[in-house]
Amino acid sequence: MLKGKIGLAPMADYTDYAYRELCREYGAEFTFTEMISVEALIRDKKESFQMLPKENEKNIGIQLFGANIESFVKAGLMVQNYGDWIDINAGCPVKKVVKKGAGSALLKDLNKLGEIIKALKNTVDIPVGVKVRLGFDEDIGEKIINTVQENNADYVIVHARTQKQLYSGQSNWERFKDLSEICNIPLGASGDIYSYNDAKVLIEEYGVDFVVVARGSIGNPWIFSNRKPDIEELKETMIKHAKMMIDDYGEEKAIRRFKKIFIGYTKGLKNARELRKKVAYINSYGDLLNVVSELK
Ligand SMILES: Cc1cc2nc3c(=O)[nH]c(=O)nc-3n(C[C@H](O)[C@H](O)[C@H](O)COP(=O)(O)O)c2cc1C
Repeated sequence: MLKGKIGLAPMADYTDYAYRELCREYGAEFTFTEMISVEALIRDKKESFQMLPKENEKNIGIQLFGANIESFVKAGLMVQNYGDWIDINAGCPVKKVVKKGAGSALLKDLNKLGEIIKALKNTVDIPVGVKVRLGFDEDIGEKIINTVQENNADYVIVHARTQKQLYSGQSNWERFKDLSEICNIPLGASGDIYSYNDAKVLIEEYGVDFVVVARGSIGNPWIFSNRKPDIEELKETMIKHAKMMIDDYGEEKAIRRFKKIFIGYTKGLKNARELRKKVAYINSYGDLLNVVSELK
């Protein structure tokens, strides 16, 4: 079961093995895979299996998304030996996902969400948690918490925005005070955690049991240990991160994927703008080393 107070949130196209391992090394107490499609798993899609945790990973949740109860069960049974718990994605606001009835669309059909939780709980041997938003169009946080706990989920993580809000406005931390009153299972918070202190405040003052950090960890694995690296450590970490990705994906794909993380690592640096432009055109590890060496 998810253990710890501060962990890495699932992020599609980011939280791959290299990202997770780096965050873990810098203090993330638990991690999640990117969201993985239950339908793709059932169809034996190779890329989806590559997204599963590796053997050495501990305290890691496998996040699944889908809209069909039987598919969740089939996929859950297929993947349960790879991770420590299964997390149901009931929060993704992306059109492509919602259109199919998955992600945050499940918040429009709480009966179905309940059925998915129940079905998984009855079949897999590992804990099952859920990651939700406050609602689809409107905030129905209490109803969601009730559904989740009535169906015996092992924890719930709330990103305190509705689907309609996407990423606008502020994550409504005040709502954690209300929700923690009625929530009898571990309650996790997500949304706008940009420092170690934010995490601490949420746990100490808003009544949540743990937090997950997403955007605040991009290029900043130090958020998990409340440190700021000097420029040398920053450069070393970037290189290490890119190397780990190359081991997994090969040079071309790794460098392509690393580019957006480069933006995170260079936030606030003197010549970030110029070098971000340069990095857009690189396609080899050697090129990356050159750009990184120029960072000031
Ligand atoms: C690029 C990106 C990808 C994301 N992918 C997922 C995902 O696969 N599953 C999920 O539950 N949430 C996903 N999220 C939502 C985050 O886990 C988190 O709940 C949200 O970003 C708010 O937290 P933050 O303010 O710390 O970023 C994603 C967010 C971002 C920015």
